[in-house]
Amino acid sequence: MSFLKFKKSKAAHNIDYENLPEHIGVIMDGNGRWAKKRGLPRSAGHSAGADALKKIVTECNNMGIKYITVYAFSTENWKRPKEEVDYLMNLLMDYLKNAETTLAGENVVIKAIGIRENLSEELQFQINKTEEFTKNNTGIVMNIALNYGAREEIVRAVKNICKCVNDGDMDIDDINAQIISDNLYTQNQPDPDLIIRTSGEERISNFLLWQLAYSELWFTDKLWPDFRVEDLHKAICDFQARNRRYGGV
Ligand code: FPP
Repeated sequence: MSFLKFKKSKAAHNIDYENLPEHIGVIMDGNGRWAKKRGLPRSAGHSAGADALKKIVTECNNMGIKYITVYAFSTENWKRPKEEVDYLMNLLMDYLKNAETTLAGENVVIKAIGIRENLSEELQFQINKTEEFTKNNTGIVMNIALNYGAREEIVRAVKNICKCVNDGDMDIDDINAQIISDNLYTQNQPDPDLIIRTSGEERISNFLLWQLAYSELWFTDKLWPDFRVEDLHKAICDFQARNRRYGGV
């Protein structure tokens, strides 16, 4: 296999391109602290975070990584001041609109995962439009976790499965781990191999709880808007040095 097609940067030379994570999950934390350090409003941190994200998705796509799931807005983030929530929603809207021309031009498939019903009609419309616009692309699949919470996702899956059992379409003894995976937002996608969280916090915060059973976790003190392609390469190199045993020896 030739790797010449990958636009490798200098810092990427230690990466084993035969052993890339297939799916990376990212908890993009620290936007607010990044802004505070500069005396800027929190919104400036989110805006800088969106810029950082574009570069990371482009690099993952160039490297040949197949899936990236990014935590953009959790089911708990509604507790933030209305002004901040509105700003994030507008940013997401702009990101999706721009993605139709920029990321789609890079062959990225964009999907939103999470509860759509509580989002504004305009945002729901834009999500559908962007998903439709990018669905036949063949590059990286980017899941934007938006109004997403892993516990809600699991509850929703359980309800779907119970309904199948109630309707007589499934026997209770047929329920297994695969059936649960098949009823999550990430159905038909591999589980994340690597989860990255920025900003020095070392917790999962209701992100992909079912899917990360065997994920490698990687934390950095860097705040998300400062996260660069070199940091991504470091995370991947560290991931490749880990010994994944999946419960075996
Ligand atoms: C956590 O930082 C970050 C978020 C809640 C939002 C993440 C959003 C982005 C990176 C930009 C928009 C994303 C897309 C897909 C356009 P925080 O605000 O909790 O930071 P803090 O812990 O320093 O306060």
